Amino acid sequence: MNEIVEIAPLEEFGEAVAAPQCARAPVGLLAELTHRCPLQCPYCSNPLELERVNTELTTAEWQDVMRQAAELGILQIHLSGGEPTVRKDLEDIVEVAAKAGLYTNLITAGVTLTRDRLKKLKDLGLDHVQLSIQDVDEENAERISAYKGGLAKKRELGQWVREFDMPLTINAPIHRHNIKNLPRIIDFAVEMGAERLEVANIQYYAWALKNRAALMPTRAEFMKSAEIVEEAKERLKGILVFDFVVPDYYAKTPKPCMGGWGRGIMNITPSGKVLPCHAAETVPGLQFDNVRNRRLADIWLNGQAFEAYRGTSWMKEPCKSCPRAEIDFGGCRCQAMAFTGDAANTDPACKFSPYHAAFVATAERESAEANPPNFIYRRVGGASKTPE
Ligand code: SF4
Ligand code: FES
Repeated sequence: MNEIVEIAPLEEFGEAVAAPQCARAPVGLLAELTHRCPLQCPYCSNPLELERVNTELTTAEWQDVMRQAAELGILQIHLSGGEPTVRKDLEDIVEVAAKAGLYTNLITAGVTLTRDRLKKLKDLGLDHVQLSIQDVDEENAERISAYKGGLAKKRELGQWVREFDMPLTINAPIHRHNIKNLPRIIDFAVEMGAERLEVANIQYYAWALKNRAALMPTRAEFMKSAEIVEEAKERLKGILVFDFVVPDYYAKTPKPCMGGWGRGIMNITPSGKVLPCHAAETVPGLQFDNVRNRRLADIWLNGQAFEAYRGTSWMKEPCKSCPRAEIDFGGCRCQAMAFTGDAANTDPACKFSPYHAAFVATAERESAEANPPNFIYRRVGGASKTPE
């Protein structure tokens, strides 16, 4: 997801478009087809206010999004949710996306797909499967997801993906309740025949932020996990590729969140709102356009929410005069908002942020708590401390 392509001339979109600030197309589009999901993971990246089924884009509307995405120059579509397979029209959306020339990635929890359906999706052009796991310890996985029998279904899906010769990525969100099982999670990815394992230390937005005190591992646990990954990378060269997401709270400089705001990725919610990142709705003052009433290219190039923090001109000190300004783009706007109260502030994950010490101290205090709070499970219409 590093390659950037130039977009087609604007006249092709039939829009009267102002001179763009950003002359590049996004590489990837995260299409949240629905917020419905049979699992209730307490670190879900969906917003706390989940969108209802009756607001979701129709099949024809999603198909139009796929065509517009291809015209805009987008290369990869990540079909996500919630759980995207609960949409009965997933096949119709995949078919149009593939015909439009997009690389299609299905991001799934893997508990609702059948063999026949996966085969059909593959035949219609599905390119890649990304399977999320909660843990390799069954009981713990069921506690984290509030869903029974998930692990066996995920193993089955892994077999089908192999049978159909499709590339597989395992996504493993890591936190204090499963970090000790990381070596077994790596073994699981190898056993499943995955090409790639995302060791995704939790990023604390949305539901994860609400559950931060329940999920935060200690610095020592994180350091140990980094060693385990380093060792496994060497051992499994040519077998398994690792993506290791460093947890912000134990970092010294921030990640370039989303590859830079409005720079490489866009996100569409189930009801068609177009966001610069999945948590952008937590930043006040942004206006989000909807694919129901504005063309995707015009939103990308000129939408107020995309322009707000694009580039570096919005920056304050210390980012403004920092040599890393064009490298990490000041980190994450949503994290700056959540922790400092101003999205234009430096991400507190940065050691130059005046909030950095408090940020680190929060993680150290919460992770040291012997009795962390119960999970608040992700649920439409509210959350609960007990799984339903
Ligand atoms: Fe990045 Fe800003 Fe920190 Fe510099 S001061 S490293 S640009 S977040
Ligand atoms: Fe929104 Fe990082 S999650 S910019």
